[in-house]
Amino acid sequence: MEKNINHIIKERRSIFPKEYTGEILPDEVLNTLLENANFAPNHHSNYPWRFVIINPNKIKVWLDKAAEIYQSNTSKELFKEDKFNKILGFSQLISHVIAIVMVREDSKTKELEDVEAVACAVQNMYLSLSQFENAGGYWSTGLGTYDSEMKSFLRLNENETLLGYFILGHVAEKRMLGGRRNYQNFVREL
Ligand SMILES: Cc1cc2nc3c(=O)[nH]c(=O)nc-3n(C[C@H](O)[C@H](O)[C@H](O)COP(=O)(O)O)c2cc1C
Repeated sequence: MEKNINHIIKERRSIFPKEYTGEILPDEVLNTLLENANFAPNHHSNYPWRFVIINPNKIKVWLDKAAEIYQSNTSKELFKEDKFNKILGFSQLISHVIAIVMVREDSKTKELEDVEAVACAVQNMYLSLSQFENAGGYWSTGLGTYDSEMKSFLRLNENETLLGYFILGHVAEKRMLGGRRNYQNFVREL
């Protein structure tokens, strides 16, 4: 049965690596997410998103880089072996990663508008997951997102900025319940 849009929105959840089985997702999942991302609103139809796919055979080398960045950016006192090993251990769980990139090509739009459009594209990916019973994912801004070494590792151009990753994995059963404070807390009248 087709799900009602209100349910799709409210049951959307960030599903994390510890919940993944380690199975590889079919290409159909990735292709559907990418196609729907491209339907996000964007000012002047400038398509400010770029997506770099990290396929299953590249997940380990990418995580090695993320762990290395964590180690080199963290002082000895703050470094946690557990966190380092947790990053490396994700390679047994994650199926694919979509690196989320914003490109700045002309000055017609403001940078903030391009960030906003890319975030809309990410929400399209999140919501698109609702049609796949065994696919979960989330937006992460960890794993070296803001580090220049990761930018070169992903072979981004000078005018491209990494905004994080859409991390994907296979789940046996998808978690849908999520608490939210009442929306009226965040609304006011002029
Ligand atoms: C811009 C952005 C960055 C995020 N980065 C992280 C992250 O680095 N690590 C993480 O565990 N979750 C991250 N999240 C996911 C949030 O933790 C998640 O959305 C929040 O816990 C609410 O859960 P829900 O998405 O299931 O409603 C991020 C979400 C957004 C929108």
